[in-house]
Amino acid sequence: MNAPVSTSPAAQVDHYAVAGNPVAHSRSPRIHALFAAQTGQAIDYSRLLCPLASFKPTLTEFVTQGARGCNVTVPFKFEAFEMATRHTPRAVLAQAANTLRFDAQAEGGWLADNTDGVGLVRDITVNAGVPLQGRRVLLLGAGGASAGVLGPLIEQRPLELVLANRTVDKAHALVDRHQAWAAQHGVPLRACALADVGEHFDVLINGTAASLGGGEVPVGAQALKPGALALDMMYGPAARPFLDWATAQGATGRDGLGMLVEQAAESFLLWRGVRPDTAPVLALLRAEVDAPVQAKPEAAT
Ligand code: ATR
Repeated sequence: MNAPVSTSPAAQVDHYAVAGNPVAHSRSPRIHALFAAQTGQAIDYSRLLCPLASFKPTLTEFVTQGARGCNVTVPFKFEAFEMATRHTPRAVLAQAANTLRFDAQAEGGWLADNTDGVGLVRDITVNAGVPLQGRRVLLLGAGGASAGVLGPLIEQRPLELVLANRTVDKAHALVDRHQAWAAQHGVPLRACALADVGEHFDVLINGTAASLGGGEVPVGAQALKPGALALDMMYGPAARPFLDWATAQGATGRDGLGMLVEQAAESFLLWRGVRPDTAPVLALLRAEVDAPVQAKPEAAT
């Protein structure tokens, strides 16, 4: 007897995008296409360029068309957080969202998450194999990139966590917001100016936009312990001067590509309930980014 012919409708494809300005060079569509193929999920992931003054209407229109979620990048992470009705605890700490899930009102409404920090932590502790627990960690910058990662860094229980920024008041404001979280995890957390970071950190994370502007690494070599890990959240050509600087100091340099792939995997998990295997995707992206013809500078956040 012949097998019955399936009469079920074609599998429905769910729509997602990366929303930002600019988004033309985002590698998120590539990453999510690889995740979808690997996990057998029927999704379509595109770029959603949002005019600076109309993030909300652009997103609302996207949802009207049936979209299920989006990643959010510069400069809309704070606005995205404000637009959601529900927020994960890590998004609340960051006051910024890089992931939205467009749940219906009956389900509680839009959910905002921030997967940047968990992505960074996973890249450092799993991909780079460097534990953060018991280590001295220095985080540079107090903008959206640093806000997204400070809470998850605290959860790793470093021996000490220092947040330094050019505008020191912004560093203090970010630290003040995380002080209770740090106390809960027994982590000494302090804010300071770039000139006052001290020395000999095991891990230095650059969350400033200095690399994007072609600027120098904003702290001196004394900040690094010999053999330290020095990670810039940028990747591609923008990260090169930082990586060269790290190598010249005897540190291990690392760019933000691993963080980019890991934060994407966490977003995928939130949307689809399955976490892709990031290792093969990161290897592929690495080969593409290191290929001779380079895309424009990009940041992992
Ligand atoms: P993002 O959301 O990507 O973090 P942002 O909110 O504009 O972007 O923050 C950029 C960060 O990089 C800030 O911490 C900024 O310092 P200020 O708060 O003093 O502006 C930092 N930054 C930008 N250019 C820098 C440079 N050349 N040297 C040091 N810090 C720099």
